[in-house]
Amino acid sequence: MKKELQVSAIKNGTVIDHITQGQVERVLYILNLSDYKDQIYFGANLDSKKYGKKGIIKVSNKFFAPEEISKIALVSPTATLIEIRDYEVTVKKQVEISDEIRGLVKCVNPNCITNHEAVPTHFEVVNKDEIVLRCRYCEKNTGKTNIEFV
Ligand code: CTP
Ligand code: ZN
Repeated sequence: MKKELQVSAIKNGTVIDHITQGQVERVLYILNLSDYKDQIYFGANLDSKKYGKKGIIKVSNKFFAPEEISKIALVSPTATLIEIRDYEVTVKKQVEISDEIRGLVKCVNPNCITNHEAVPTHFEVVNKDEIVLRCRYCEKNTGKTNIEFV
């Protein structure tokens, strides 16, 4: 049987594979890719053996910083991050959510001190599967449906 890539190969850059179903647009948004000038390929509702359906984003000539990779993990915990150099896969890793998140996500509580003063947010990750972040200041939970980045 003929096997083809569902989206073209890239020469240099990053592939974000196995994006959680429905999250491709959100990943593009949090990575500020709307005004990126080099090639971007993306696909949604692609067949995946592991997840049924998945999304994929390929960004030419771009490698993401740890903070950006943490953001990807928070909206798409199933994602695999793949770096390509001269058409070869040089890095392939599962995105990871750390035990604590500092200064990346807004606290959902409008009364929280972090929404009123120049205090960076700080959360303890109390559930990595469901994505539940407990604020160290007000103890309110921010969850995957209301995550917003600072
Ligand atoms: N890829 C790419 N450009 C390249 C090489 C790889 O866009 N020059 C993409 C592939 O399309 C794939 C991902 O990077 O989505 C991982 O590549 P590879 O490890 O070669 O693919 P598989 O073995 O199919 O990986 P997996 O089974 O983990 O999906
Ligand atoms: Zn708070």
